[in-house]
Amino acid sequence: MSAPSRASALDTARVLAGVLGPMLAQGVIARRPRMVAQAGRFGLDDRAVEILQRMRERYGPGPLRLRIPGRSVAVVLDADDVHRVLRDSPEPFTPASREKRGALGHFQPHGVLISHGEVREERRRFNEAVLDTGRPVHRLAETIGAATREEATRCADLAALTGTLDWARFSAAWQPLVRRVVLGDLARDDHEVTDLLTTQRGQANWSYLARGRPNRLARLRHRLGAYVDAAAPGSLAELVASVPAPDRVDRIDQMPQWLFALDPAGMVTYRALALLVAHPDVCARVSGDDGSLLRGAVLESVRLWPTTAVVLRDTTAPTRWGDGELPTGTSLGIVSSYFHRDETTVPGADRFDPDRWCDGRADDGRSLLPFSAGPVVCPGRELVFYVASTFLATLLGRARVRAAGAFPLQESRPLPRGLDPFTVRFAVDRPGA
Ligand code: HEM
Repeated sequence: MSAPSRASALDTARVLAGVLGPMLAQGVIARRPRMVAQAGRFGLDDRAVEILQRMRERYGPGPLRLRIPGRSVAVVLDADDVHRVLRDSPEPFTPASREKRGALGHFQPHGVLISHGEVREERRRFNEAVLDTGRPVHRLAETIGAATREEATRCADLAALTGTLDWARFSAAWQPLVRRVVLGDLARDDHEVTDLLTTQRGQANWSYLARGRPNRLARLRHRLGAYVDAAAPGSLAELVASVPAPDRVDRIDQMPQWLFALDPAGMVTYRALALLVAHPDVCARVSGDDGSLLRGAVLESVRLWPTTAVVLRDTTAPTRWGDGELPTGTSLGIVSSYFHRDETTVPGADRFDPDRWCDGRADDGRSLLPFSAGPVVCPGRELVFYVASTFLATLLGRARVRAAGAFPLQESRPLPRGLDPFTVRFAVDRPGA
């Protein structure tokens, strides 16, 4: 394990301007479509990875400490260090980092991801119990699967009718699905609850810099509470009402994370569709798939274009690192795409290869972390696989989907490091039409 090194003032400026700045500008909590488009146009995601590669060549593999007045900040540059940080969370590497507390506090002040100590364990247990973490098929799979097939069918039929599927149409099908899964069928058309959350997420992009909006937060909680009281059969809200938990878990406050996280899962699914369409040989295997191919496609989608651009931890104690040390309160940043696209540790890093998730090649748990790893690993990942692959299987079974316009993905070319969903459009018709 190599000791931390300290970046020069100029290299600190390079990392801030070329890596962290563009990530913040694109929106960490709620994506800003215009900034995502700009990042794609100017290749900012490519540049960010190149800058970090250069930093590693210049300073070695240890954490790179940036020169930022008043805050100890380091970027992790080595896969073994990633493994250590994620394995040793939440102590001494807490996910409840200062910036994350500032951000998520706008819409889930008692959420598990920004909790610490004993209460974190209790909240984590509650999340796992509701989400059925570790079980490939959720106990509510029947109703969740039925809702997913219904929304995907509607999406496919409308796309076939108009001959086209774009991000706006896909997203219009995904949003009602998110509400049905979490809150129940009654919530299908409750745009207001999504709007309330979206506003709070917009504030969260600014972390501590944004003013709190306690009235809106109270309205959001009130609305979620009403759905828990209604306990629609087959929804997560039903489980929130029935799974036992100590009072300080604050059940309602765990729900915004689920709504918030299922939202980018739509973008992940849409990008997985783009990958499949750009790789007809893989797509042809979907109809005989037992689920593992589509799971691999979803994982590839997150690997190639991570929705959590940077995984953050704060040190809770002075931490030895080789023959050096990081002080308490150091913010550690793990930039996912830097590791996911590193050809030296991930052969074929810029290619779509869903089978790598089926045959054990992606299992080292060090450099590939689409859903994080260790005790803070995403407890909703199996639910994501189930909903996303059911949606994709239904869509592809019901309609013939092909690339349209200037399609940004081509089988013969390395996959771009950024993929703006607004640039992806499909031509759709009925099979055999
Ligand atoms: C494609 C979709 C998703 C991706 C890529 C994803 C990824 C992640 C990642 C990377 C983390 C860990 C962050 C860290 O280590 O600091 C995380 C945490 C979490 N995710 Fe997900 N997630 C997704 C969807 C979901 C869904 C659908 C749910 C629930 C319905 C969910 C619930 C959670 C919760 C509760 C945590 C906090 C865990 C803790 O603090 O112990 N996620 N997710």
